[in-house]
Amino acid sequence: MCGIIGYVGFRDARTVLIESLKRLDYRGYDSAGIAIIDKKLKIFKDKGEIVKIEKQIPQMKGTTGVGHTRWATHGAVTKENAHPHLSCDKKIAIVHNGIIENFNILKEELIKKGHTFLSDTDSEVIAHLIDDIYKGNLEEAMIAATKKIKGSYAIVAISQDEPLKIVGVRKESPLVIGVGDSENFLASDITAFLKYTNRVMFLNDGELCVITANTIRVYDKNQRPITKKEELITWDIKDSEKSGFPHFMLKEIYDQPETVHHVLRGRISEIEETITFPEQVEKLLKNEITSIHIVACGTSFYAGLAGKYLIEQLTNISVFTELASEYRYFGTRNENSLVIAITQSGETADTLAALREAQLSGCRTLVITNVIGSTATRIADGYILQQSGPEIGVAATKTFTSQIILLFLIALKLSIIQKKLGSNELYNYIVQLKALPRYVRDILQRSNDIIAIAKQLKDATSVFFIGRGINYPLSLEGALKLKEISYIHAEGFAAGELKHGPFALLTDETSVVAIVTQDETYEKILANIGEIKARGSKVIAIAEDKDSETEKHADFMLRFSAGSHVLQCIPITVVLQLLAYHVAHLRKCPIDKPRNLAKSVTVE
Ligand code: AGP
Ligand code: GLU
Repeated sequence: MCGIIGYVGFRDARTVLIESLKRLDYRGYDSAGIAIIDKKLKIFKDKGEIVKIEKQIPQMKGTTGVGHTRWATHGAVTKENAHPHLSCDKKIAIVHNGIIENFNILKEELIKKGHTFLSDTDSEVIAHLIDDIYKGNLEEAMIAATKKIKGSYAIVAISQDEPLKIVGVRKESPLVIGVGDSENFLASDITAFLKYTNRVMFLNDGELCVITANTIRVYDKNQRPITKKEELITWDIKDSEKSGFPHFMLKEIYDQPETVHHVLRGRISEIEETITFPEQVEKLLKNEITSIHIVACGTSFYAGLAGKYLIEQLTNISVFTELASEYRYFGTRNENSLVIAITQSGETADTLAALREAQLSGCRTLVITNVIGSTATRIADGYILQQSGPEIGVAATKTFTSQIILLFLIALKLSIIQKKLGSNELYNYIVQLKALPRYVRDILQRSNDIIAIAKQLKDATSVFFIGRGINYPLSLEGALKLKEISYIHAEGFAAGELKHGPFALLTDETSVVAIVTQDETYEKILANIGEIKARGSKVIAIAEDKDSETEKHADFMLRFSAGSHVLQCIPITVVLQLLAYHVAHLRKCPIDKPRNLAKSVTVE
C-alpha cells in the first residue's frame, strides 16, 4: 500500500508534501517521511502518522521533494524502515509503493559491491540500485534499475545533482501526474494534490515520467516518448475534507443522500423509461451472457453478494460471487461469462489479478469502481464509475451503497435486454429509486436512536449479525464494519445457518443484531429470534416502522422506513454503518484509521 507524493515547482515543498501526506495517510500510516532538495538533500522520517510527527520536521527551504506514508510489507514499523530511502552518498532519495520480490538477491549483490543498507525493507534496494547505475541522469538510472527489479512498484525519485527534476515509474501500483502552472505533482492518488490542481495524467504500467516545474515527459515501456492526454477531475477538494464532522467515516455516511442521488443521476430516466450506461458497458451487457462471476474483496465482495440476489431475481442469469483472492487461482472461467470486478479504489491487487486472469481466459470484463483512471478501469473491457467522491475513511461506507445500486441498475438493464421487464414495472422501479435519498436522510435523522443502542453494545465481547436473502450479505457487512473499527469480535450469518454450528457460541453475553424485513422469510427470522433468545442472548432487531410484530420478540429495536422499497437494503445498511460508527466512537477507537489496516490493499 503506502501513499507517495512528489512535488516540483515554486512553493515550499515541505508544506506541500506534509499536506499531501495527510490526505494520503488513509493508504497507510505506520510511518511517514519527506526528502527535499535544499541545496543538499535533506530528509526527515519517523514512526507514526504524519499528523503526529509533523511538528518535528525541521524547516527545509527547497521546492523539489518527495514524501511517503507507509503500510509496512517488508520490515517492521521503525524509523529506519520508513521511507524515503537514500543512496549511500545520500544524494538520491526514493519513495516506493509495492513489493520488490527479488530484493534479497539484489541486496546481496549490492552489498558485495560495497553498498551499506540501513533498513530491512525491500524498497531500499531501489535507492542503491539507482545509485549504482547513476551517471548524472536520473531517468536513465531509473530505467536501468527497473529492468533489474521484479515485483510491483510505483517509485518516485529525486537527485541532489539534478535538483529541478523528479522521476516516477509505475508497474501494478498507482501513480498519477498532477498538472499545474509552473509546478507539477506525482502521487498515488488525486486527492494528494487536488487542492492545487484538478488536471491529471494517468500513467499506465511500465510508463516512466520526468517532471520539472514546467515540463512533463512520459515514456512507454520501450522508452519511446509518448503524448499523454490531460484529464479534468470533477471531484471537489471539499469532498476530501471532514467538513466539520469528527471523522471522515461519519462524514461519508452522511454524504449518502447525495451519493445515492449521484449514482442514479443520468442513468435512470422515467420519461424515456430506460437505464443508461456508457456505450462500451451497454455493449458488454447486450452480449450473450450465460453466467456472471462477480469478483471482489472485503466490503466490495459483500456488495457483490447482494448483487447476486438482485441480478438473479430479475434475470435468468446465474451469478457467482467470488473472493478475488481465491478466484484468481481457482475460479472457473468460460467465454460466455461476464466477469464483474467491484473495487472502490480500482487498485486492489487481488481484484486486479482476478480481472487479468479472467481476461486471459477470454471472459468479457466489466469494472465497478469509484476511481476514474484507476488501474482496474485500464484493464477491463468496460467500467462504470460510482461517482461517490473520494472515500477517505478506511471503512467503506458510501461506496458500498453505490455499488449495490449500480448492481441493481445492471440487473434492471439485463432484465430489459432479456425482455423480462415490462415498462410499467421498470417505471415503478425508477420511481422507487428516486425516493431512495429520502429514506437514507430519514435514517440519518434517527441517529439518536442508534446511539442509544450503541451504548448497549459498547462493552460487548461478541456480536452476531443475522439476516436472510439480501439481508445475509448486509449482515456480513454489518459485522465487518463493527469489527474493523471497534475491534469487537463480530460475525455475520445467514440466519438459517446459526443452528448448524454458531449456536454453540451463544450465551447471555452475546448480542445478536437481526435484520428483519417483511418478505417471504419474515416468519422464519422471527422464529430464529425466538431460538436465540431462548439461549439468553440479547437481540437487537432492525425492522421497518410499520412492523409491530418484531418488537414483541426482540429486546431492542432499530427502525427504518422504506415501505416495500426494492432497495430497502440501502437504508438498512446506513443503520448498520451508524451502529458500528457509534460503538467505535464510544470506545474511543481511531475510527478513520483502524490498526493494521489500510484503505487500499495494493499488495497480495
Ligand atoms: C471495507 O471497510 C474495507 N476496508 C475493505 O474490506 C475494502 O472493502 C476492500 O479492501 C476492497 O477494497 P476495494 O473496493 O478498493 O477493492
Ligand atoms: N514494501 C515497501 C515497505 O514495506 C512498501 C510497502 C507498500 O507499498 O505497501 O516499505
